[in-house]
Amino acid sequence: MNISRVACIGAGLIGQGWATVFSIRCSSVMLQDTSESLLQEGLNRVRKHLSFLAAHDLLDRGEADRAFERIHTTTAIEEAVSDAAYVQESVPDNYEIKKIVFADMDRFAPADAVLASSASGLLMTEIQKAVSRPERCVLVHPMLPVHLLPCVEIAGGKKTSPETVALAKRFMEYLGKSPVVLNVEVPGYIVNRLQAALLRESLDLVEKGVASAEDVDKAFRTGIGLRDPILGPFLRIHLAGNGVENFFRTLGDSYRVRWESMVNWTAIPSSTAASACKAVRQMRVIRDKTIEEIASWRDEMLVKILKAVGEE
Ligand SMILES: NC(=O)c1ccc[n+]([C@@H]2O[C@H](COP(=O)([O-])OP(=O)(O)OC[C@H]3O[C@@H](n4cnc5c(N)ncnc54)[C@H](O)[C@@H]3O)[C@@H](O)[C@H]2O)c1
Repeated sequence: MNISRVACIGAGLIGQGWATVFSIRCSSVMLQDTSESLLQEGLNRVRKHLSFLAAHDLLDRGEADRAFERIHTTTAIEEAVSDAAYVQESVPDNYEIKKIVFADMDRFAPADAVLASSASGLLMTEIQKAVSRPERCVLVHPMLPVHLLPCVEIAGGKKTSPETVALAKRFMEYLGKSPVVLNVEVPGYIVNRLQAALLRESLDLVEKGVASAEDVDKAFRTGIGLRDPILGPFLRIHLAGNGVENFFRTLGDSYRVRWESMVNWTAIPSSTAASACKAVRQMRVIRDKTIEEIASWRDEMLVKILKAVGEE
């Protein structure tokens, strides 16, 4: 792989994760944010991620130390990207901010560098309007926690070249990720569209009083969640129907009845948000533990699942 020098723009939750992943396989990682204190916070988090990987035998301890040494920081974007072959932007999900940052990436990075965005709700077709070489801009959307979850979604905008998409895919594979390439750009890509459908129904079940937030999570966790790490919606219906054609023949109508009784709002009603906040705050785990503690527990559990399931 001839991408060895990379830059991460934005050292928040996602930028920290990318810096961790890049530092393991690339020779140099420039991490950039708007202040020294944010960079220090980002670096502390990267060190924790690398130590976590080493503590769980996902990375050699010496390699974790060497990876950390390969990360350098700066508050100047021109310095961050000046000799990067690949730049991953992870600043807030807002077209105005992304376009300013992309214009700078375009101006200061080498002409053939790949300019990637972590955006989770925006389209590359819009972001790339801010640059002079839109063909090298591509969306590369990771999952949180970035240093653990293999899935990344890759989607070009209207002006992205097929070569850029192919290069981003090869680079992600080189990093050990499992890239999925979208043939058509759609808001929310694949994962966030699936999550959006699930969330709308979960919110409505709680608001209608069908079940508590705790029980909706439990039903997901011990039912769909436990089974689906090794399946997906399509393999599931093939098994559920004892053959996909039979699924549509015998179970199709039960889905009609479910869908007819489901809500189809396209913006979260304020009453729904209010009842969800109340319901979630009543969950025992949320009363007992901080966000940091829940995230640590999630990462511990994820490692066990990753080791059991393996990666594609
Ligand atoms: N949080 C998630 O679960 C998740 C998952 C996948 C993708 N994403 C996407 O990743 C991107 C970053 O999200 P996040 O959760 O890391 O946000 P965050 O708020 O944790 O971090 C954003 C960082 O960008 C920095 N920043 C703002 N303006 C900047 C600028 N002009 N130059 C350099 N840095 C700047 C901020 O100081 C902050 O440190 C967003 O597009 C988001 O939608 C988020």
